[in-house]
Amino acid sequence: AIIPVLLVGGAGTRLWPVSRKAFPKQFAPLLGAQSLFQASALRLSGTHFDAPIVTTNGDFRFIVTEQLAEIDIAPQAVLIEPSARNTAPAILAAALHAAATDPDALMLVAPSDHVVPDTEAFGASIAAGVPAARAGQIVTFGIAPTRAETGYGWLELDGPPGDGPTPLRRFVEKPDASAAAAMLAEGRYLWNAGIFLFTARTMIDAFRAHAPDFLPPVEAALKGATTDLGFLRLDPKAWSRLPDLSIDYAVMEKAPNLSVVRFSGHWSDLGGWDAVWREQLPAGAAGGSVTDPRSTAIDCTNVLLRSEADGVEVVGIGLEDTMVVATGDAVLVAPMSRAQEVRRAVAALKDKG
Ligand code: GDD
Ligand code: MG
Repeated sequence: AIIPVLLVGGAGTRLWPVSRKAFPKQFAPLLGAQSLFQASALRLSGTHFDAPIVTTNGDFRFIVTEQLAEIDIAPQAVLIEPSARNTAPAILAAALHAAATDPDALMLVAPSDHVVPDTEAFGASIAAGVPAARAGQIVTFGIAPTRAETGYGWLELDGPPGDGPTPLRRFVEKPDASAAAAMLAEGRYLWNAGIFLFTARTMIDAFRAHAPDFLPPVEAALKGATTDLGFLRLDPKAWSRLPDLSIDYAVMEKAPNLSVVRFSGHWSDLGGWDAVWREQLPAGAAGGSVTDPRSTAIDCTNVLLRSEADGVEVVGIGLEDTMVVATGDAVLVAPMSRAQEVRRAVAALKDKG
Protein backbone atom coordinates (compact mmCIF):
# COMPACT_ATOMS: atom_id res chain seq x y z
CA ALA A 1 0.00 0.00 0.00
CA ILE A 2 1.03 3.61 -0.51
CA ILE A 3 1.37 6.10 2.35
CA PRO A 4 -0.23 9.43 1.42
CA VAL A 5 1.68 12.47 2.68
CA LEU A 6 -0.73 15.38 2.88
CA LEU A 7 0.84 18.83 2.78
CA VAL A 8 -1.41 21.31 4.53
CA GLY A 9 0.90 24.05 5.68
CA GLY A 10 0.21 26.74 3.09
CA ALA A 11 -1.29 30.13 3.92
CA GLY A 12 -3.40 30.52 0.76
CA THR A 13 -3.20 34.33 0.82
CA ARG A 14 -4.23 34.64 -2.84
CA LEU A 15 -7.74 33.53 -1.88
CA TRP A 16 -8.28 36.31 0.63
CA PRO A 17 -10.81 37.31 2.02
CA VAL A 18 -12.26 33.79 2.23
CA SER A 19 -8.87 32.29 3.04
CA ARG A 20 -7.64 33.64 6.39
CA LYS A 21 -4.51 33.12 8.43
CA ALA A 22 -6.31 30.93 10.96
CA PHE A 23 -8.45 29.25 8.30
CA PRO A 24 -6.66 29.03 4.94
CA LYS A 25 -8.17 28.00 1.65
CA GLN A 26 -7.55 24.28 1.92
CA PHE A 27 -9.99 24.05 4.85
CA ALA A 28 -12.73 26.13 3.24
CA PRO A 29 -15.53 24.58 1.17
CA LEU A 30 -14.56 26.59 -1.92
CA LEU A 31 -16.33 24.27 -4.35
CA GLY A 32 -19.01 21.93 -3.06
CA ALA A 33 -19.59 20.80 0.50
CA GLN A 34 -16.17 19.37 1.37
CA SER A 35 -13.03 21.34 1.89
CA LEU A 36 -10.19 20.87 -0.60
CA PHE A 37 -8.22 19.16 2.16
CA GLN A 38 -11.02 16.68 2.82
CA ALA A 39 -11.39 16.00 -0.90
CA SER A 40 -7.62 15.33 -1.15
CA ALA A 41 -7.65 13.02 1.85
CA LEU A 42 -10.62 11.07 0.44
CA ARG A 43 -8.98 10.80 -2.99
CA LEU A 44 -6.04 9.11 -1.27
CA SER A 45 -7.98 6.66 0.86
CA GLY A 46 -9.27 3.16 0.16
CA THR A 47 -7.68 -0.17 -0.59
CA HIS A 48 -4.49 1.04 -2.30
CA PHE A 49 -3.56 3.42 0.49
CA ASP A 50 -2.34 3.28 4.08
CA ALA A 51 -3.46 5.82 6.67
CA PRO A 52 -1.97 9.21 5.76
CA ILE A 53 0.89 11.17 7.30
CA VAL A 54 -0.21 14.78 7.61
CA THR A 55 2.31 17.62 7.76
CA THR A 56 1.05 20.94 9.00
CA ASN A 57 1.72 23.65 11.58
CA GLY A 58 0.53 24.21 15.13
CA ASP A 59 -2.24 26.65 14.18
CA PHE A 60 -4.00 24.15 11.95
CA ARG A 61 -3.66 21.00 14.02
CA PHE A 62 -7.20 20.89 15.36
CA ILE A 63 -8.81 21.88 12.05
CA VAL A 64 -6.87 19.01 10.46
CA THR A 65 -7.98 16.37 12.94
CA GLU A 66 -11.57 17.65 13.01
CA GLN A 67 -11.89 17.67 9.24
CA LEU A 68 -10.35 14.18 8.97
CA ALA A 69 -12.69 12.84 11.68
CA GLU A 70 -15.67 14.20 9.72
CA ILE A 71 -14.75 11.95 6.80
CA ASP A 72 -13.70 8.98 8.99
CA ILE A 73 -10.00 9.08 8.24
CA ALA A 74 -7.55 8.36 11.05
CA PRO A 75 -4.04 9.60 10.22
CA GLN A 76 -1.05 7.43 11.17
CA ALA A 77 0.85 10.58 12.15
CA VAL A 78 0.36 14.33 12.25
CA LEU A 79 3.72 16.09 12.10
CA ILE A 80 3.65 19.61 13.48
CA GLU A 81 6.20 22.00 11.98
CA PRO A 82 7.22 24.61 14.56
CA SER A 83 7.69 27.23 11.82
CA ALA A 84 6.93 27.47 8.11
CA ARG A 85 9.89 26.21 6.08
CA ASN A 86 8.03 25.28 2.90
CA THR A 87 7.65 21.78 1.47
CA ALA A 88 11.23 20.42 1.32
CA PRO A 89 11.68 19.99 5.10
CA ALA A 90 8.09 18.73 5.51
CA ILE A 91 8.56 16.02 2.89
CA LEU A 92 11.94 14.96 4.25
CA ALA A 93 10.48 14.70 7.77
CA ALA A 94 7.66 12.50 6.47
CA ALA A 95 10.12 10.29 4.56
CA LEU A 96 12.42 9.85 7.59
CA HIS A 97 9.42 9.13 9.81
CA ALA A 98 8.17 6.41 7.43
CA ALA A 99 11.67 4.99 6.86
CA ALA A 100 12.01 4.27 10.57
CA THR A 101 9.39 1.54 10.06
CA ASP A 102 10.07 0.61 6.42
CA PRO A 103 12.69 2.30 4.22
CA ASP A 104 11.05 0.81 1.13
CA ALA A 105 7.64 2.24 1.95
CA LEU A 106 5.96 3.82 -1.08
CA MET A 107 4.90 7.40 -0.41
CA LEU A 108 2.69 9.76 -2.37
CA VAL A 109 3.07 13.44 -1.59
CA ALA A 110 -0.01 15.47 -2.38
CA PRO A 111 -0.91 19.12 -1.94
CA SER A 112 -4.26 19.99 -0.45
CA ASP A 113 -5.20 22.89 -2.73
CA HIS A 114 -6.17 20.91 -5.81
CA VAL A 115 -9.28 19.93 -7.70
CA VAL A 116 -9.13 16.47 -9.28
CA PRO A 117 -12.70 15.27 -9.80
CA ASP A 118 -11.98 11.98 -11.59
CA THR A 119 -10.69 9.86 -8.71
CA GLU A 120 -10.62 6.70 -10.80
CA ALA A 121 -8.39 8.10 -13.56
CA PHE A 122 -6.21 9.65 -10.87
CA GLY A 123 -5.86 6.24 -9.14
CA ALA A 124 -4.95 4.60 -12.46
CA SER A 125 -2.16 7.14 -13.08
CA ILE A 126 -0.75 6.52 -9.63
CA ALA A 127 -0.84 2.75 -10.17
CA ALA A 128 1.01 3.27 -13.48
CA GLY A 129 3.83 5.01 -11.58
CA VAL A 130 4.34 2.33 -8.92
CA PRO A 131 6.88 0.08 -10.74
CA ALA A 132 9.11 3.06 -11.56
CA ALA A 133 8.91 4.30 -7.97
CA ARG A 134 9.83 0.85 -6.66
CA ALA A 135 12.81 0.90 -9.04
CA GLY A 136 14.16 4.08 -7.44
CA GLN A 137 12.56 6.80 -9.55
CA ILE A 138 10.82 9.89 -8.22
CA VAL A 139 7.61 9.82 -10.23
CA THR A 140 5.94 13.12 -11.11
CA PHE A 141 2.51 13.58 -12.68
CA GLY A 142 2.19 15.76 -15.77
CA ILE A 143 -0.72 17.79 -17.05
CA ALA A 144 -1.01 18.99 -20.67
CA PRO A 145 -0.46 22.76 -20.43
CA THR A 146 -3.10 25.16 -21.73
CA ARG A 147 -1.47 28.51 -20.98
CA ALA A 148 1.97 30.01 -20.24
CA GLU A 149 1.51 29.59 -16.48
CA THR A 150 4.38 30.96 -14.37
CA GLY A 151 3.01 29.66 -11.06
CA TYR A 152 3.72 26.00 -11.86
CA GLY A 153 6.65 23.72 -12.45
CA TRP A 154 7.19 22.54 -16.03
CA LEU A 155 8.38 19.04 -16.99
CA GLU A 156 10.48 18.55 -20.10
CA LEU A 157 10.03 15.05 -21.51
CA ASP A 158 12.67 13.02 -23.28
CA GLY A 159 10.20 11.93 -25.91
CA PRO A 160 6.46 11.82 -26.49
CA PRO A 161 4.58 10.72 -23.34
CA GLY A 162 3.56 7.04 -23.45
CA ASP A 163 1.11 5.17 -21.26
CA GLY A 164 3.60 4.39 -18.54
CA PRO A 165 6.27 6.50 -16.84
CA THR A 166 8.54 8.44 -19.21
CA PRO A 167 11.99 9.68 -18.18
CA LEU A 168 12.23 13.37 -17.52
CA ARG A 169 14.93 15.49 -19.12
CA ARG A 170 14.46 18.59 -17.01
CA PHE A 171 12.30 20.06 -14.26
CA VAL A 172 11.80 23.86 -14.36
CA GLU A 173 10.10 25.43 -11.35
CA LYS A 174 8.10 28.63 -11.84
CA PRO A 175 9.65 29.92 -15.09
CA ASP A 176 9.38 33.57 -16.08
CA ALA A 177 6.72 34.55 -18.60
CA SER A 178 8.88 34.32 -21.70
CA ALA A 179 10.32 30.92 -20.73
CA ALA A 180 6.78 29.65 -20.02
CA ALA A 181 5.56 30.91 -23.41
CA ALA A 182 8.49 29.20 -25.14
CA MET A 183 7.78 25.90 -23.37
CA LEU A 184 4.10 26.08 -24.24
CA ALA A 185 4.95 26.67 -27.91
CA GLU A 186 7.60 23.95 -27.95
CA GLY A 187 5.09 21.22 -27.04
CA ARG A 188 7.40 18.73 -25.32
CA TYR A 189 6.47 19.99 -21.85
CA LEU A 190 3.85 19.16 -19.24
CA TRP A 191 2.86 21.02 -16.08
CA ASN A 192 3.98 19.50 -12.80
CA ALA A 193 0.86 18.55 -10.86
CA GLY A 194 2.75 18.85 -7.56
CA ILE A 195 2.15 15.18 -6.74
CA PHE A 196 5.16 12.91 -6.24
CA LEU A 197 5.50 9.12 -5.82
CA PHE A 198 8.70 7.54 -4.44
CA THR A 199 10.02 5.24 -1.76
CA ALA A 200 11.17 6.72 1.54
CA ARG A 201 14.70 5.58 0.76
CA THR A 202 14.72 7.23 -2.69
CA MET A 203 13.68 10.60 -1.25
CA ILE A 204 16.20 10.46 1.60
CA ASP A 205 18.95 9.55 -0.89
CA ALA A 206 17.89 12.44 -3.14
CA PHE A 207 18.27 14.88 -0.25
CA ARG A 208 21.64 13.34 0.62
CA ALA A 209 22.80 13.89 -2.97
CA HIS A 210 21.23 17.27 -3.80
CA ALA A 211 20.31 19.03 -0.55
CA PRO A 212 22.45 17.46 2.19
CA ASP A 213 22.11 20.47 4.51
CA PHE A 214 18.51 19.53 5.24
CA LEU A 215 19.32 16.14 6.72
CA PRO A 216 20.94 16.92 10.09
CA PRO A 217 18.31 19.49 11.20
CA VAL A 218 15.34 17.37 10.09
CA GLU A 219 16.82 14.28 11.77
CA ALA A 220 17.38 16.30 14.93
CA ALA A 221 13.86 17.74 14.77
CA LEU A 222 12.41 14.22 14.64
CA LYS A 223 14.72 12.96 17.38
CA GLY A 224 13.77 15.85 19.65
CA ALA A 225 10.06 15.65 18.81
CA THR A 226 7.51 15.54 21.57
CA THR A 227 4.19 13.77 21.42
CA ASP A 228 1.22 15.72 22.62
CA LEU A 229 -2.44 14.77 22.14
CA GLY A 230 -1.36 12.41 19.35
CA PHE A 231 0.54 15.11 17.47
CA LEU A 232 4.24 14.72 16.77
CA ARG A 233 5.63 18.15 17.49
CA LEU A 234 9.02 18.58 15.78
CA ASP A 235 11.81 20.18 17.77
CA PRO A 236 11.65 23.97 17.21
CA LYS A 237 15.34 24.66 17.71
CA ALA A 238 16.46 22.11 15.14
CA TRP A 239 13.68 23.18 12.76
CA SER A 240 14.70 26.83 12.93
CA ARG A 241 18.06 25.92 11.36
CA LEU A 242 16.33 24.82 8.13
CA PRO A 243 16.20 26.94 4.99
CA ASP A 244 12.77 27.93 3.66
CA LEU A 245 12.66 26.06 0.35
CA SER A 246 10.18 24.05 -1.68
CA ILE A 247 10.87 20.46 -2.75
CA ASP A 248 10.78 21.66 -6.35
CA TYR A 249 13.88 23.82 -5.96
CA ALA A 250 15.63 21.68 -3.32
CA VAL A 251 15.36 18.32 -5.09
CA MET A 252 13.29 18.17 -8.27
CA GLU A 253 15.30 20.65 -10.33
CA LYS A 254 18.45 18.66 -9.52
CA ALA A 255 17.58 14.97 -9.34
CA PRO A 256 18.44 12.87 -12.42
CA ASN A 257 16.07 10.00 -11.48
CA LEU A 258 12.77 11.65 -12.37
CA SER A 259 9.98 10.09 -14.40
CA VAL A 260 6.60 11.42 -15.37
CA VAL A 261 3.22 9.79 -15.77
CA ARG A 262 0.84 11.83 -17.83
CA PHE A 263 -2.47 12.51 -16.11
CA SER A 264 -5.20 13.25 -18.62
CA GLY A 265 -8.10 13.80 -16.24
CA HIS A 266 -9.18 17.24 -15.12
CA TRP A 267 -6.76 18.90 -12.69
CA SER A 268 -6.56 22.38 -11.24
CA ASP A 269 -4.57 24.11 -8.53
CA LEU A 270 -6.96 26.59 -6.95
CA GLY A 271 -4.18 29.12 -6.71
CA GLY A 272 -6.34 32.23 -6.99
CA TRP A 273 -9.86 33.53 -7.62
CA ASP A 274 -9.35 33.34 -11.39
CA ALA A 275 -8.86 29.58 -10.96
CA VAL A 276 -12.03 29.33 -8.83
CA TRP A 277 -13.87 31.28 -11.54
CA ARG A 278 -12.51 29.02 -14.31
CA GLU A 279 -13.47 25.95 -12.26
CA GLN A 280 -17.08 27.11 -11.91
CA LEU A 281 -17.69 27.93 -15.57
CA PRO A 282 -19.91 25.46 -17.42
CA ALA A 283 -17.85 22.51 -18.73
CA GLY A 284 -15.84 23.46 -21.80
CA ALA A 285 -16.63 27.18 -21.63
CA ALA A 286 -13.65 29.55 -21.89
CA GLY A 287 -15.51 32.52 -20.39
CA GLY A 288 -18.75 33.63 -18.81
CA SER A 289 -19.98 34.97 -15.53
CA VAL A 290 -20.09 33.02 -12.29
CA THR A 291 -22.50 34.05 -9.55
CA ASP A 292 -23.89 32.40 -6.41
CA PRO A 293 -27.34 32.58 -4.80
CA ARG A 294 -26.39 35.88 -3.10
CA SER A 295 -25.06 37.62 -6.19
CA THR A 296 -26.42 38.95 -9.49
CA ALA A 297 -24.61 39.87 -12.69
CA ILE A 298 -26.37 42.33 -15.01
CA ASP A 299 -24.84 42.85 -18.44
CA CYS A 300 -21.46 41.51 -17.22
CA THR A 301 -18.75 39.64 -19.15
CA ASN A 302 -16.33 37.20 -17.50
CA VAL A 303 -16.94 38.13 -13.89
CA LEU A 304 -16.88 36.26 -10.61
CA LEU A 305 -19.36 37.64 -8.08
CA ARG A 306 -19.32 35.81 -4.78
CA SER A 307 -20.87 36.60 -1.42
CA GLU A 308 -20.06 34.49 1.62
CA ALA A 309 -21.94 36.75 4.04
CA ASP A 310 -25.50 36.14 5.12
CA GLY A 311 -27.68 39.04 4.08
CA VAL A 312 -25.08 40.62 1.80
CA GLU A 313 -26.14 40.74 -1.85
CA VAL A 314 -23.49 41.50 -4.48
CA VAL A 315 -24.71 43.06 -7.72
CA GLY A 316 -22.48 43.85 -10.69
CA ILE A 317 -23.61 45.97 -13.62
CA GLY A 318 -21.68 46.29 -16.87
CA LEU A 319 -18.48 44.77 -15.44
CA GLU A 320 -15.84 43.00 -17.52
CA ASP A 321 -13.09 40.60 -16.42
CA THR A 322 -13.60 41.48 -12.78
CA MET A 323 -13.88 39.60 -9.51
CA VAL A 324 -15.82 40.66 -6.44
CA VAL A 325 -15.63 38.52 -3.31
CA ALA A 326 -17.51 39.63 -0.18
CA THR A 327 -17.35 38.15 3.30
CA GLY A 328 -18.80 39.42 6.58
CA ASP A 329 -15.90 41.81 7.14
CA ALA A 330 -14.15 42.40 3.82
CA VAL A 331 -14.80 42.97 0.11
CA LEU A 332 -12.26 42.28 -2.64
CA VAL A 333 -12.65 43.95 -6.04
CA ALA A 334 -9.98 43.37 -8.70
CA PRO A 335 -9.44 42.73 -12.39
CA MET A 336 -9.42 38.99 -13.11
CA SER A 337 -5.95 39.30 -14.68
CA ARG A 338 -4.47 40.45 -11.36
CA ALA A 339 -5.70 37.50 -9.30
CA GLN A 340 -2.15 36.55 -8.29
CA GLU A 341 -1.72 39.97 -6.66
CA VAL A 342 -4.40 39.37 -4.04
CA ARG A 343 -1.60 38.36 -1.68
CA ARG A 344 -0.70 42.07 -1.72
CA ALA A 345 -4.01 42.82 -0.01
CA VAL A 346 -3.00 40.62 2.89
CA ALA A 347 0.41 42.28 3.09
CA ALA A 348 -1.12 45.76 2.92
CA LEU A 349 -3.61 45.01 5.71
CA LYS A 350 -0.84 43.54 7.84
CA ASP A 351 1.15 46.76 7.44
CA LYS A 352 -1.86 48.78 8.56
CA GLY A 353 -1.84 46.61 11.71
N1 GDD B 1 3.34 21.03 5.59
C1 GDD B 1 3.58 22.11 4.85
N2 GDD B 1 4.51 23.01 5.28
N3 GDD B 1 2.89 22.28 3.72
C2 GDD B 1 3.16 23.38 2.98
C3 GDD B 1 4.10 24.36 3.38
C4 GDD B 1 4.83 24.16 4.61
O1 GDD B 1 5.67 24.95 5.06
N4 GDD B 1 4.12 25.34 2.43
C5 GDD B 1 3.22 24.97 1.48
N5 GDD B 1 2.61 23.80 1.84
C6 GDD B 1 1.57 23.05 1.12
C7 GDD B 1 0.46 23.93 0.54
O2 GDD B 1 -0.61 23.99 1.47
C8 GDD B 1 0.07 23.14 -0.70
O3 GDD B 1 -0.89 22.14 -0.38
C9 GDD B 1 1.36 22.44 -1.13
O4 GDD B 1 2.20 22.41 0.02
C10 GDD B 1 2.09 23.11 -2.31
O5 GDD B 1 2.45 24.43 -1.94
P1 GDD B 1 2.08 25.69 -2.84
O6 GDD B 1 2.63 26.89 -2.17
O7 GDD B 1 0.63 25.68 -3.20
O8 GDD B 1 2.98 25.38 -4.14
P2 GDD B 1 2.73 25.95 -5.59
O9 GDD B 1 1.33 25.72 -6.03
O10 GDD B 1 3.25 27.35 -5.64
O11 GDD B 1 3.73 25.03 -6.48
C11 GDD B 1 3.72 23.61 -6.40
O12 GDD B 1 2.53 23.06 -6.93
C12 GDD B 1 2.31 23.32 -8.35
C13 GDD B 1 1.03 22.66 -8.80
O13 GDD B 1 -0.01 22.95 -7.97
C14 GDD B 1 4.96 23.11 -7.19
O14 GDD B 1 5.12 21.73 -6.94
C15 GDD B 1 4.79 23.38 -8.69
O15 GDD B 1 5.87 22.78 -9.41
C16 GDD B 1 3.49 22.77 -9.18
O16 GDD B 1 3.30 23.04 -10.58
MG1 MG C 1 -0.44 25.42 -5.01
